Amino acid sequence: MRLIAVLTLMAVLAAPQGLAQSTPAAPVARGIFTLAPLPYSPEALEPVIDAETMKLHHGRHHQAYVDALSKAVAGDAELKDLSLAELLAKAGSMPAAIRNNGGGHWNHSFFWSIMAPPKMGGTPSRELARAIDAQFGSMEAMKASFKAAGIRRFGSGWVWLVVTPEGKLLITSTPNQDNPLMDVAEVRGTPVLGNDVWEHAYYLKHRNRRADYLDAWWQVVNWREVSRRYAEATARS
Ligand SMILES: [Fe+2]
Repeated sequence: MRLIAVLTLMAVLAAPQGLAQSTPAAPVARGIFTLAPLPYSPEALEPVIDAETMKLHHGRHHQAYVDALSKAVAGDAELKDLSLAELLAKAGSMPAAIRNNGGGHWNHSFFWSIMAPPKMGGTPSRELARAIDAQFGSMEAMKASFKAAGIRRFGSGWVWLVVTPEGKLLITSTPNQDNPLMDVAEVRGTPVLGNDVWEHAYYLKHRNRRADYLDAWWQVVNWREVSRRYAEATARS
């Protein structure tokens, strides 16, 4: 199974358009939201994230956000034709079910795409590496700030590395299933990297040690996809 997982991931990495097609920013037709398959098998991220966590996280938690979001927009003529990106941009004026489940759907779709099995995520592009050095001083300093923001997030939420509308890299954190694409976010920008610090993301393997999970998680970052997203975000800014 491990070999199959690696081969599947190699095929996905060899075809970046395949990941792009599953990016959550893509318009979604008429309020029908669907859960895309993981781009690797559930055990592919071991030993950093165990297969049981991945199965529950994707198949139960993410599926629940998708189902609840579809239900929430289905009966609303004004909302059901909006894309997920459009719903998030107006999150502050949306019912809580849209904000929470729309955020949950986007955040998890993003999360799966920016991870890869250990040693298979490549390295940051030259442009991204230079931007990280310029903004934070070094990759290690960026990782330290990212970890600190993840630890500081009280309760459940996310930690992000975003590109601001001015093209600058910033680390920020959001509560619950909010994200920096929402009009309610303290820091708005386009996420290029993000980690889920809800306990459901790490508790089976790392128990209550969120800091350990944040440290180990760098082993499964898909730097190719993060770099692709950085290039896309800076081309727009
Ligand atoms: Fe999650």
